[in-house]
Amino acid sequence: MFITFEGIDGSGKSTQSRLLAGKLEAQGHEVVLTREPGGSDGAEEIRRLLVEGDPDRWSAETEILLFTAARRDHLERRILPSLAEGKIVISDRFADSTRVYQGATRGDLRAMVDSLHAQMIGKEPDMTLIIDMDPDKALERGLARDSGEDRFEEFGAEFQSKLRRGFLKLAEYEPERCVVIDGTRGADEVGADVLSAVLDRL
Ligand code: ADP
Ligand code: TYD
Repeated sequence: MFITFEGIDGSGKSTQSRLLAGKLEAQGHEVVLTREPGGSDGAEEIRRLLVEGDPDRWSAETEILLFTAARRDHLERRILPSLAEGKIVISDRFADSTRVYQGATRGDLRAMVDSLHAQMIGKEPDMTLIIDMDPDKALERGLARDSGEDRFEEFGAEFQSKLRRGFLKLAEYEPERCVVIDGTRGADEVGADVLSAVLDRL
């Protein structure tokens, strides 16, 4: 089973993917916890090019190519082999992030994102958990981390609102795959909802 977490920056995806991995492991499942951009050696190198530096470091087109290159490496070297071994793969972000983020910076690029996905990735998660919350609260949480990886967060609150709407629209469009979880509550409460949604499908 291939599970992904999606949502705006600071919504709690990393926290929830870690919690879910721990709970599934405790139930005896073999779990691979991974993230994007990154998740394989090559993709982690590409990650640094993407998340550090000025917001206008790359054009939107170049950015799509870099995210897709990183995803292809992650898929080939980590995701597909782990699924073939019967493991549960949990990824903190995947292709929906490209659809929403790169689609939101320039709406007319969505067709390019979809065609590259079809040619180079061609894989959808079995289930996607969208952690939804108010961008102002999420931004406070995110910037408080001071990770040095704030290139996207520096696009600002209005951009994050646009992203939030983008993720919710995606969930409406693909209700079979996507489950929207209210991320404003405490991590344990959110985690309980996440686990019950996943156990429903397992
Ligand atoms: P993301 O991966 O979506 O950017 P994180 O899981 O890294 O989000 O969370 C961002 C920050 O908010 C972290 O400092 C984390 O400890 C904190 N955090 C995560 N979930 C919650 C929650 N439910 N309530 C309060 N703070 C949280
Ligand atoms: P991530 O480390 O998950 O950020 P955060 O923990 O703040 O949510 O991802 C880094 C940034 O890359 C994030 O701002 C979202 C962006 N991103 C895209 O724009 N497109 C993509 O395809 C992916 C995977 C991430």
